[in-house]
Amino acid sequence: MKTAIVEMLEQKREGARQGGGQKRIDAQHEKGKLTARERLEALLDPDSFEEYDMFVEHRCTHFGMEENKIPGDGCVTGHGTINGRLVFVYSQDFTVFGGSLSETNAKKICKILDMAMKVGAPVIGINDSGGARIQEGVDSLGGFAEIFQRNVLASGVVPQISLIMGPCAGGAVYSPALTDFIIMVRGSSYMFVTGPDVVKTVTHEIVSQEDLGGADTHTNKTGVADLAYQNDIEALLQTRRLFNFLPLSNREGVPARPTTDPADRVETSLNTLVPENPNKPYDMRELIERVVDENDFFEIQPSYAKNVIVGFGRMEGRSVGIVANQPMILAGCLDIDASRKAARFVRFCDAFNIPIITFVDVPGFMPGTWQEHNGIIKHGAKLLYAYAEATVPKITVITRKAYGGAYDVMSSKHLRGDINYAWPSAEIAVMGAKGAVEIIFRGSLKDPEAVQQKVDEYRQKIANPFVTAARGYIDDVIRPQNTRWRICRALSVLRSKQLENP
Ligand code: HXC
Repeated sequence: MKTAIVEMLEQKREGARQGGGQKRIDAQHEKGKLTARERLEALLDPDSFEEYDMFVEHRCTHFGMEENKIPGDGCVTGHGTINGRLVFVYSQDFTVFGGSLSETNAKKICKILDMAMKVGAPVIGINDSGGARIQEGVDSLGGFAEIFQRNVLASGVVPQISLIMGPCAGGAVYSPALTDFIIMVRGSSYMFVTGPDVVKTVTHEIVSQEDLGGADTHTNKTGVADLAYQNDIEALLQTRRLFNFLPLSNREGVPARPTTDPADRVETSLNTLVPENPNKPYDMRELIERVVDENDFFEIQPSYAKNVIVGFGRMEGRSVGIVANQPMILAGCLDIDASRKAARFVRFCDAFNIPIITFVDVPGFMPGTWQEHNGIIKHGAKLLYAYAEATVPKITVITRKAYGGAYDVMSSKHLRGDINYAWPSAEIAVMGAKGAVEIIFRGSLKDPEAVQQKVDEYRQKIANPFVTAARGYIDDVIRPQNTRWRICRALSVLRSKQLENP
């Protein structure tokens, strides 16, 4: 008898492993996609995966479904480790009913979301699904909403990452949208609320799946997705890399790992990074890479709103979040997209106890009717709000321009910046010297030499770091070469920071 049960166990396990069968597995491979289980193998440490609910079956009795049951029902769930750290996972199996979400499928996903919140560990969801299980109707729709509810409750409690590795359409897009990071695969994944056929019927637009909601669209244009990769393996390996920067939950500190990069490394090349001419751009990414441990910077949304850079690095082995204006793009102006991108990132860091380092070179908010009419006021306020609300350690380095409202917004002293430094090249003012002189002496100065004289005077009197330092709004004017060790020291001072909002 016992042997029979064990045999049945093995049979069911094998059934679950086979999913929708070899033909459908081959079809999956032909599309350049891995199967749900292969993806988990690539994502997790070897032999670390423990599966839950391998024997769960759907309960649908319509349209011949009662005869068509596959153990596990097309969604592989459980937990494993990434570099030894616990993570909960689910992976939709496209070979079983197109990965469509059944009522029981949703229950499996909710179970791991609940567990993750209870024990404090991140959740990674791999999406590859035709959406709601059509044969089930409202049971499936309810299942989606149960997941959404948990995504919301888990937000800010445990990091949530969504990988999109196939179709993700209709209401199904809203679970990934509620999570912290979305990672897509070029050519094989798409996300949209309504597909090309519906779009054609309703708006008469003709658009391909890829253009409507492919990886490039969402990482370059919409900002819905954070990162895109060429294939499943690359996406999964980069997800492991991202995971390494993240705390397990809001109850934990940031992960630390040994580094050979000395905290007191002096980086003399930074002394010449900022050009003499204030209108000449330079690459802020270079500064970031030279400051963080081992030049290892993991950029989030690198192809979207490139005028602001956000991402993770480490200082003395501990994760930090970095926000920086990029003078190479739109002179580093803050616009709607940049404000939303940076605000979301700052809020993530604040929720998960990740210190924020801000490098400032910002000429202001982007002017124009498009920006105003699309709500730069409210979107810009999101970034202001995020910085003002954040209670994690905040270190700011002004490398060059910090003009106008953007000076206030970018983690200024006035928004509870803990340690604010400026490089000698910093210009902190209501606006650039030339613009200021044009307004103050509107039309009265005709001679270019006289204009230049006033510009120099403005710079000397107002647009330099010492005026701000004299008021204590920056704590010190530092030499660029010392930026790394000054930040490391500031971080170690702030490790015991305690601050609560009313
Ligand atoms: C049940 C489904 C399914 C679904 C696909 N299948 N989607 N079964 N429910 N939603 C099954 C197919 O019958 C097929 O079964 C297998 O999955 C593979 O599907 P194919 O169509 O052969 O694959 P492909 O050509 O790659 O096309 C994939 C697809 C297409 C684009 C996803 O299947 C499709 O359009 N599906 C329907 C999508 C949809 O309208 N979903 C509802 C969205 S609304 P066999 O047995 O032949 O292998 C929604 C609301 C959520 O999700 C609301 C939340 C609030």
